[in-house]
Amino acid sequence: MRVAILISGGGSNMVALIQAMRAGGWAEPCLVLSNNPTAAGLEKAQALGVPAQVLDHREFPTREAFDTALSETLREAGADLICCAGFMRVLGPTFVAAHSGRILNIHPSLLPLFPGLDTHKRALEAGVAIHGCTVHEVTPELDGGPILGQAAVPVLGGDTAESLAQRVLRQEHRLYPAVLQAICAGTPLKDAPIALLADA
Ligand code: GRF
Repeated sequence: MRVAILISGGGSNMVALIQAMRAGGWAEPCLVLSNNPTAAGLEKAQALGVPAQVLDHREFPTREAFDTALSETLREAGADLICCAGFMRVLGPTFVAAHSGRILNIHPSLLPLFPGLDTHKRALEAGVAIHGCTVHEVTPELDGGPILGQAAVPVLGGDTAESLAQRVLRQEHRLYPAVLQAICAGTPLKDAPIALLADA
């Protein structure tokens, strides 16, 4: 399996995915693509020897034009699977349909709770005792596709959005590679999603 990773920022999930693929040899990272030219993850990808490319969405007149260029770039890279990892662009319905079942995303909450942004702040405000992260298939509904895996994280007294985000991120780095490896092995996760529990 050739895996492309889409990023917009720091790329810590991207690094976790690349390291796991390399260590296990069960997939090949073929491309890291960022819509943000200043994403710190681009240098990390280069340092890991993975081709890194920028496709700046601001240079395209419409979402469709960006998505078309993205599709073409992924085709040229020979990507079989597309992993969104902190990719802050909504993919349009035409793109999603064209790559149906082959796009994964990691979201920093236990979906269906807290789709969208500011998940850690909203989890604290809601007073939940357990928070976490989800890897799901991407469908046209934002953060709404089938759940492939989740990792649960306790909310501790005195947690801030930042401390909670850090604790969740550590579990993202466990969960995403585990889900990707299972998908590459052909495991039908929609019927039996991976469930991880974090220590405090
Ligand atoms: C992660 O929390 C991810 O779930 C969210 O954005 C963050 C990206 O972090 N969508 P990184 O770029 O992988 O370090």
